[in-house]
This record gives sequence, C-alpha cells and structure tokens, in this order.
Amino acid sequence: MTIEIAEAVGQLIRDRRATRAFLPDPVPPETIETVFGLAGSAPSNANAQPWQVEVVSGTARDKLADALVAAHQAGRRTLDIPYDESIYSPVHQRRRAAFGTAVYNALGIGRGDEDLRTDYDLKSLSFYDAPHVALLYAPESANPRLTADVGMYAQTLLLALAAHGVASCPQGVLSFYSKTIRDTLGVTGGKLLLGISFGYADPDAPINAVNVGREPMLETTRFHR
Ligand SMILES: Cc1cc2nc3c(=O)[nH]c(=O)nc-3n(C[C@H](O)[C@H](O)[C@H](O)COP(=O)(O)O)c2cc1C
Repeated sequence: MTIEIAEAVGQLIRDRRATRAFLPDPVPPETIETVFGLAGSAPSNANAQPWQVEVVSGTARDKLADALVAAHQAGRRTLDIPYDESIYSPVHQRRRAAFGTAVYNALGIGRGDEDLRTDYDLKSLSFYDAPHVALLYAPESANPRLTADVGMYAQTLLLALAAHGVASCPQGVLSFYSKTIRDTLGVTGGKLLLGISFGYADPDAPINAVNVGREPMLETTRFHR
C-alpha cells in the first residue's frame, strides 16, 4: 500500500463523523449503488454475509418518517434485539454522559428543556432530515457473532459513504421501533440492529461541528510483546 493511500484512508477514518443535520438534496442513485456495493465487501464469519439491508428514499422515506413519529407519539416501542441500560459498565456510562453533554450543548438544550428534547427526538426519528435511510437487519437468531458481522458491514458502509462525500448517522434509536419499520416497509424475517441515515451534511448546523473524540488508545488496547 502506498503512503498516499495510507494517508487518505487515515484521513477518511478520522474525519468520518456522525452527522445530525442534513440538506434535503438526494444522493444520486449511481452513488448509492456504488457505496452499497462497497459495503458488501465487508468481512464476515466464514463469508456468510449475514446482513439484510433495506435502503429507503423518496416517498417511502417520508412515509417511514411519519410512521416513526406517530409510533413515538403513541409510545409504541418494539425492539427485535433487547436493550437495557445495564449493558453499560460505569466507564461506558461516563463516556456516554460526556457524549450527551457535548451534543446537548451544541444544540443549546439544557437539562430541563423537555420540549426541546422532545423536538430533538422527533428530528432523530425523521432521520435528522436526511433524504435516505438504510435499515440493517441481523439474522433471526441475533447470534452475537453474526450480529458482529452486521457491525462490520455498518462501518464499511459509513466509510464508503464518507469516501463519496456522503455524510451519515448510525441510529440505534430506530431499532426501538422495529415493528413500525417492518410493517411500513413490508420486511419479513431478520432482527433490526440499527438504521443509518445518510445524505449531504448541512455545513451551517452547529451540531455537525461536534467532535466527541476518543479515549487514549492505551485505555482500550494492550500490546503484548
Ligand atoms: C450502533 C450505533 C448506534 C448509534 N445510535 C445513535 C442514535 O440512535 N442517535 C444518534 O444521534 N447517534 C447514534 N450513534 C452515533 C454515535 O453517537 C457516535 O458514533 C459516537 O458518539 C461517536 O461519534 P462520531 O461517530 O461522530 O465519531 C450510534 C452509533 C453506533 C455505532
């Protein structure tokens, strides 16, 4: 691999960010097909490629956003893969809290601003106004090894999008409305792991300037020599 490629890939990895404000302009269909083709190059256990992906645009996207907002307002949450705050250790919780503070500060939303928080939740269920969303399904078993393969696919997709100038936001929150999504799109089988909203970033939105950073490498990585 040449130094130029290493530098370009390093920059791509470092500069990818979760984007939470999008312009309405759609991504050309050829670009969408290229990036989803690249995402399918992700590695998986024994090359089983156990992902199922639904890519939603146009009126189908609008219909899905409306259904999600309605489900949220009616309190209709359904998860294919269970979620509980207890999955996080204290150190994870500390990092999550720092992330939450950075996001809400950028949005100018204080602790007690319940109305603004609700508006923000609704924005997130409208894919932060992104013109496209991909829903990533793990196999019916939701076996952790196979679900990890879907994670491999997800990151490959995020980087492929970024390489084509397309911004994205992985959204676990969409998996909290799995039945709504399944019914609206007519999806049978699989378990919804996450959604990925994508489109072109709004360059003027303060939320898109958030850079949450990472722990020093040695906090998470040990080298045995
Ligand atoms: C599996 C997964 C689920 C996520 N769910 C959400 C979500 O529901 N809403 C959201 O705004 N961001 C979500 N994110 C984005 C993370 O908050 C973001 O990746 C993290 O804070 C690091 O920031 P960065 O991606 O900008 O580097 C999710 C990311 C991943 C990988």
